[in-house]
Amino acid sequence: MSVSKRFLAILVAATAILLYLVHSHETILASRPQFPAKSADSPPYTAAIVYLVSVMPGPRSPERLLQSIPLMEKNIPWRYQWPIILLHAGAYSVLESQEDFLDQLQESASNHGLEPEQIQSLMSRIQFVATYHELPEGIPMDGVADGPIWGGEWPAYHHMCAFFSYKIFNHPSIRDLTYFFRLDDDSYVREPACFDPFEYMHINNKSYAFRDDPPDMGWVTEGMWPFVSNYAERHPFVESMLEHNGLQWPPNRKWRLRFGQGVNFPSYETNFDLVKVERFRTPEMTEFLYELASVPKRFYWYRWGDAPVRFAQVNMFLNVEKEVHRMCEIPYAHKDRPFDDCECVPLLA
Ligand SMILES: *[C@@H]1O[C@H](CO)[C@@H](O)[C@H](O)[C@H]1NC(C)=O
Repeated sequence: MSVSKRFLAILVAATAILLYLVHSHETILASRPQFPAKSADSPPYTAAIVYLVSVMPGPRSPERLLQSIPLMEKNIPWRYQWPIILLHAGAYSVLESQEDFLDQLQESASNHGLEPEQIQSLMSRIQFVATYHELPEGIPMDGVADGPIWGGEWPAYHHMCAFFSYKIFNHPSIRDLTYFFRLDDDSYVREPACFDPFEYMHINNKSYAFRDDPPDMGWVTEGMWPFVSNYAERHPFVESMLEHNGLQWPPNRKWRLRFGQGVNFPSYETNFDLVKVERFRTPEMTEFLYELASVPKRFYWYRWGDAPVRFAQVNMFLNVEKEVHRMCEIPYAHKDRPFDDCECVPLLA
């Protein structure tokens, strides 16, 4: 082999090695995660919109939900695109039923005037999460035969109340979020709102927002006054928080005899329920939720609702003046009842 041929061979080999190195370096670069991972607009919190779409096995008409979701998407100026979690008890366990729902949602969103990109984004954020509800120990299958205070929709309604009162804070899809925004399938954001509710909570450092607070009837809150009173007596922090928040007790608190019997209990209407999760997962709140759940008859016989329970939780453990907001700025209706709105002032951010 002449010198020049040998030189050429070395050159070819060196070039090949060099090309190989360059190529593999590129491959390494391409497979690395994009830098920077945190862009200027990456959210400082996590959130989800949550619907409990079915509680009992079997299909359920999605008619109202198919209106509620597009209105919520269209009328709120969402800063970030959050998941929309549909908690169901089997209604969407089959892929076909999910696809069928999404087809209908696409059509409904289009009828509501959403843009094609908005519809695509909406569809991609729907999450079907199977969530089953079981009767707690001590509540028999035929519990409705025991003549509960309210036997309508037994036990679906009672499951729903128990779920939103305490189970939700430990749900795997919820517990690690900063915020969840619960709506019911008959909750409608009627008209354009001027801010994103999660942004409002974040910027103003709020822990809970509701839309209205009508009291719940005394006959479906039997025992709730004594329960809260008794708990406050054993937990001085709760007693002082309730006093700070200005809770009005019914007469005869110290006398106890028939204390609070038949007296309405204040409530936050939870068809619009905006929650900072960590404030409902503190050790103090968890202890309270545990005690609340320890007597299942409260939900499955007395039919305590999640609305008065939410009011109790908030007023026992949160500083209402600092942490709670009546979000009347969002134009809203439950079923066909529009709520009174207030002026919406855009957020400074
Ligand atoms: C935000 O609110 C929490 C109570 O939820 C409070 O502990 C905290 O100090 C507040 N942060 C600011 C910056 O005000």
